[in-house]
Amino acid sequence: MKKYFYFLLSTILILQVSVSRADEGLWIPLLLQSLNEKEMQDMGMRISAEEIYNINNSSLKDAILLFGGGCTAEIISEEGLILTNHHCGYAQIQKHSSIGNDLLTDGFWAMDKQEELPNPGLTVTRLVRMEDVTQRMLDGITGEMTEKERAKAIKEKGEEITAEIEKDSLYKASVRPFYYGNEYYVLVYEIFKDVRLVGAPPSNVGKFGGDTDNWMWPRHTGDFSLFRIYVNKDNEPAEYAEDNVPYKPLYSIPISIKGVQEDDFTFIFGFPGRTQEYLPSDAIEMITQVQNPNRIKLRRKKLDIYESFMTQDPQIRIQYSLKHARLSNGWKKWIGENRGIQKLDGIDTKLGFEKGFNDWVQASAERKKKYGGLLEAFDKSYDEMTNAQLEMIYLVEAGLGVEIVRAARIAAKLVSISEIKETTNEEIQKELKVVLKKGEGFYKNYYLPIDRKAFVVLLNIYREEFPPDQLPAIFALIDKKYKGNIDEFADYVFKKSMFANEKTFFDFFDNYKKSKYKKVLKDPAFTMAKSFIDFYGQNTKPVISKLSVEIDSLMRIYMQAQMEYQPENNFYPDANSTLRVAYGKVKPYHPRDGVFYEYQTTLKGIMEKEDPNIYDYVVEDKLKQLYNQKDYGKYGMGDEMPVCFIATNHTTGGNSGSPALNADGQLIGLNFDRCWEGTMSDLMFDPDQCRNIMLDIRYFLFMVDKFAGAGHLVDEMELID
Ligand code: ARG
Ligand code: GLU
Repeated sequence: MKKYFYFLLSTILILQVSVSRADEGLWIPLLLQSLNEKEMQDMGMRISAEEIYNINNSSLKDAILLFGGGCTAEIISEEGLILTNHHCGYAQIQKHSSIGNDLLTDGFWAMDKQEELPNPGLTVTRLVRMEDVTQRMLDGITGEMTEKERAKAIKEKGEEITAEIEKDSLYKASVRPFYYGNEYYVLVYEIFKDVRLVGAPPSNVGKFGGDTDNWMWPRHTGDFSLFRIYVNKDNEPAEYAEDNVPYKPLYSIPISIKGVQEDDFTFIFGFPGRTQEYLPSDAIEMITQVQNPNRIKLRRKKLDIYESFMTQDPQIRIQYSLKHARLSNGWKKWIGENRGIQKLDGIDTKLGFEKGFNDWVQASAERKKKYGGLLEAFDKSYDEMTNAQLEMIYLVEAGLGVEIVRAARIAAKLVSISEIKETTNEEIQKELKVVLKKGEGFYKNYYLPIDRKAFVVLLNIYREEFPPDQLPAIFALIDKKYKGNIDEFADYVFKKSMFANEKTFFDFFDNYKKSKYKKVLKDPAFTMAKSFIDFYGQNTKPVISKLSVEIDSLMRIYMQAQMEYQPENNFYPDANSTLRVAYGKVKPYHPRDGVFYEYQTTLKGIMEKEDPNIYDYVVEDKLKQLYNQKDYGKYGMGDEMPVCFIATNHTTGGNSGSPALNADGQLIGLNFDRCWEGTMSDLMFDPDQCRNIMLDIRYFLFMVDKFAGAGHLVDEMELID
């Protein structure tokens, strides 16, 4: 009996281990055929890996773009129309907005190409090809080299490779480490620089549910916006020019309006930013026990202050909504991540893994020599790292979390070049222009009473967290001159600093001359900023830099060791903002005991959430009318209008705007978020709890066609029904 029980237990354990890997992974497109194609097809995919990534013929990958620096977009028409999230296009939509022409609130639809709006500075990037250059990169790298020598050699080789590719080409190349420097790939990119805004729904659709619904399911956010790529007459990337023409893409993704069913195969193709799946337990401990709780605490303080003002005054709400969204997004993510890790017993799970790993190491003299000291070394490095990270968090979230301190930072470079005798007037004028521009952006969205309040709250917590000798010098000054009274100190700073308001800022900088830098040096907000930055430069940065080198080199060895320890596992490299494929199935889930979440939401849910008194839950009459008349065109699902759905795809930040594709490689959704219970997937993936959230493509089409009356855009697309 007992024997049988153990047998059962061990099979269950084995099952768990292998099941827990299903759906996990951010795969390299170049290796799909060898590593994933079979599994993808077994799960239901009907196309080949070659149709996803191919460099000899056009393939799906030619339609996938890095949008700006941190989102994904995809090409959905032969005229270069591209789709991404509303929150990814937010800054551009906001820039085109003004009082009386508020595109964020009202939405925007270009009714013809003349009306499309240019966005200087915005780029989209296509991966032309990638290549494994590991051998060439590691040739001549030896175990005897110091980390410094190794880094230097790697850098030189990388530059050699990119120079070869970029020579006589319009493309940009970049060599990146994968598996913590055990492998290297060169990525060749084509960068488009004329990207125009075509359409965006009003915020009460594009941001429906706001920061309250963010990271949560059931979700009803119409999180999309439309742009178009423009090129020169030869169909090549070019700087903005009025006579540029719409881009003729190598591939444009057809759109399926057939919808999804439970267990349907789906995949996500995009640019995930960062995951850390292979860290040791010490790192998980640092992140979940020290970094996350402190970041959560400091951000909550700021959010409380922002919210108390935002609900009072619509003008302030507009000024602070983007700042609030950014703070809140991280705040909520870290809460979810910590809960998820706790639920998985994350630290113990890692410790268990490390025990097995260590036994395996100890069992061989050769392995002992190679990997013997690894875990102890991590332990030591992370011990030191933890305190430095804590300092860093307080500097960034509390010190520089005070807005007037950040305003003073705008002038830092101008002051430092002014101090140098040789600096020419021309150089000064150039930097001054930057300062004035940044100032304009800053004061447009600055409300002093909020900052005054945050100043006092944040500096008080800052002081409580560290012993006096581990604090930036400004705190000693507060003690000496204000008997430690931060409130009084705040009075002085906000009264005396030129950074306290727009008028004093521009009075001073509009008339700036090189010799005037001394006045800035004496400014109390500038002094504060300097105190924080000096502390960072002298105490925090050197420690973090030194330990980062140590940890990087340990991770390189540990990664290799983990792959050797579990050769049966199919290892994917942690996300590094390069193009990846994740695949899974449409699935509901149980977030907690007694609760079941369906995989699809519909317009009905929007009507249920409607609250005309809460900004984020306002529903427009037009939408209600369409709902009441069930006027869904061909996009409806019987009597229902689908809005969002979830699946088990492994995604992370950067996957926003990524296409969700069906078994035939057709567009069925637009990725924009993850469910809260699964946000620990950046550290540890749980197929039971991890779900990515996608906009149902039919809701997007319905919005463009029926709600906005921009059917001419839908006409550009290839719909499959
Ligand atoms: N959580 C999503 C992401 O990480 C959406 C963020 C934007 N939306 C918001 N309500 N703040 O980017
Ligand atoms: N909203 C995230 C982004 O902007 C995607 C959600 C996630 O982190 O999975 O990239």
